[in-house]
Amino acid sequence: MTTPRRVLVVGGGGREHAIAWKLAKDGAEVLVAPGNAGTAAIAENVPLAATDVPALVEFARRREVDLTVVGPEAPLVAGIVDAFQNAGLRIFGPTARAAQIEGSKLFCKQILHRGDVPTAMFREFRAMARAREYLEAREDMPVVIKADGLAAGKGVFVCADRAAALEALAAISADPQLAAASGGILVEERLDGVEVSVMAITDGRTIVTLPPLQDHKAAHDGDQGPNTGGMGAYCPAPFVDADMLADIEARILVPTVHAMRRAKVPFQGVLYAGLMLTAQGPKVLEFNARFGDPECEALLARLDSSLLDLLDATADRRLDEVQPPIWRNGASVTVVMASAGYPGSVEKGRPIRGLDAAARVTDAQVFHAATRAGDGGVVTDGGRVLAVTATGASLARAKLQAYTAVKEIRWPGAWCRKDISDKGLRHERETPAADDASTLAAEAPP
Ligand code: AMP
Ligand code: GLY
Repeated sequence: MTTPRRVLVVGGGGREHAIAWKLAKDGAEVLVAPGNAGTAAIAENVPLAATDVPALVEFARRREVDLTVVGPEAPLVAGIVDAFQNAGLRIFGPTARAAQIEGSKLFCKQILHRGDVPTAMFREFRAMARAREYLEAREDMPVVIKADGLAAGKGVFVCADRAAALEALAAISADPQLAAASGGILVEERLDGVEVSVMAITDGRTIVTLPPLQDHKAAHDGDQGPNTGGMGAYCPAPFVDADMLADIEARILVPTVHAMRRAKVPFQGVLYAGLMLTAQGPKVLEFNARFGDPECEALLARLDSSLLDLLDATADRRLDEVQPPIWRNGASVTVVMASAGYPGSVEKGRPIRGLDAAARVTDAQVFHAATRAGDGGVVTDGGRVLAVTATGASLARAKLQAYTAVKEIRWPGAWCRKDISDKGLRHERETPAADDASTLAAEAPP
């Protein structure tokens, strides 16, 4: 088996820039469709939309692409993997049916049930009126209302009480997009605890669990403000120690992969578990069928061994033959720089200054999330514009380097959260390392 030399990355965000950057470092010739100004500097951008599946198949064939790697969920749910495989082309990612683990919350719950995987208790309703009756009849308690179907994060309402839950139902009915996407309504028990992301690469049989991360979904510092795609991430999330990660693998990831295979919907690609660390242990909030964004940027910054080998082996169903990945010691932090107005509507086309100076900051890497080449240089092209990433021997050091790079970059209206990784730093301060604890115990006077 020769290593593929030409790899096509599908997508154009920070995640895809990070994947393309790493694959290029691994020695691949990388093409990105459609890419952004960042990927243009390290790869060849291809002017095809990520969801234009027939054109992508034709392109991959014509350019003799050895392996295609899919970043975002939309092409997966649209069946890009099925189309490539039917055309005899190698591709990394789940089929449309397997991607339903992300695309359909009901499908996800069915798989979790089959695998006996810990998750929030829930009830499913086909009709809005039934959901309303249920909420009115049961005791008043915090719940989460979810509209089934892909609604770009808009379909989830975390509700403190019954009144808020009834309002959420009304909001779903009133929103044509949500109502249309909604195959049903889930009323879920609200889980409390720390949220973490744990991803695994799997070929449907073998699982490679990746280090834990934490995302920051709220727009503003202190987890205030509206929900976003993610304003920053760091790796590893210290809340998950090696024992807990092994437990998550054994009780959540492995049973899910097996349940999917038994259901004749084998999953190949990145299985992303959004978890709540509750008092009863880790429970699944949701699964995604792809790398998280911005988690991917923070993750790949720490990957010292080959990503290409992992993805390649997965596409060939021989992940069991690959050596475990090697992660750089210490930590990484990714800070998202956003346009004014995000997560609402934003202005585009603002010239970005300071990218070169930021790139010179030690251990920093600026991934582009929504940029394009403008007349005088790189300009903004969306809400989440850059994913400024740094590694360091400690989490504190990685945070310092990431924000040092952020400070070099400016455009009118640019902003970011200032507290990315602070929950992890607080946890480190409050939890003595296991070694320290044993030393203290040994030295304690009788
Ligand atoms: P999304 O990523 O758009 O599916 O939204 C999921 C987000 O909603 C998670 O990141 C959680 O913050 C929150 N969430 C979802 N389900 C629950 C639950 N059962 N209990 C508490 N929070 C939840
Ligand atoms: N950062 C969360 C996600 O990619 O869904």
